[in-house]
Amino acid sequence: MISSSSLAADLLEEIYGEGARQCPSPNEQLTLVFSKYKSFDLVELEQLLETAGWSRRPVRRVRRALDNSLLKVGLWCHHSRCPRLIGFARCTGDGILEATVWDVVIHPVYQGSGLGKQLMNYLLESLRKMGVESVTLFADPGVIEFYQRQGWELEPRGHRCAFWYAN
Ligand SMILES: CC(C)(COP(=O)(O)OP(=O)(O)OC[C@H]1O[C@@H](n2cnc3c(N)ncnc32)[C@H](O)[C@@H]1OP(=O)(O)O)[C@@H](O)C(=O)NCCC(=O)NCCS
Repeated sequence: MISSSSLAADLLEEIYGEGARQCPSPNEQLTLVFSKYKSFDLVELEQLLETAGWSRRPVRRVRRALDNSLLKVGLWCHHSRCPRLIGFARCTGDGILEATVWDVVIHPVYQGSGLGKQLMNYLLESLRKMGVESVTLFADPGVIEFYQRQGWELEPRGHRCAFWYAN
């Protein structure tokens, strides 16, 4: 892992908002930044989520879901005029006791370089700062190990897990 050129702290905050942090990049040509406050182009976001194989959702509903989320984290490939979104995760919750993580994704071109792990670290650190005590997520079967390697515990045999779907 090589660190890319660093952005001045004031520029980092001006473009990406408070608490933004530069992310060690696998490619010295790329400057990568985590942000909690930079707003998303929802078409770009849905395109990113589509690369993970998830179906597109109506933009209006996604906007409301983001508005109602406790935390949204973007991983941006820095460009002075047009930063590109290459990673994303969000959390819902009460902001004190519980949070649940959704929509974790790293663009396929950038996978396998430790960015997913760093994204989760940034997200958990942000939740910890809020004082959230317990975090859950629903992992797709193919990524359970990704989370386990980072210290997440599996719910024992799914005995306490229940789901309800509107349709
Ligand atoms: C899951 C995802 C976010 C991981 O991002 P990534 O940047 O490729 O992961 P990293 O490179 O940070 O991997 C960190 C570690 O987890 C391992 N890992 C990554 N993906 C894995 C997987 N699917 N299964 C098992 N281990 C995995 C890596 O080998 C690495 O191990 P190491 O620390 O021993 O070197 C990414 O593959 C992705 O966006 N997938 C599609 C969307 C998805 O499935 N999201 C999760 C929904 S629950």
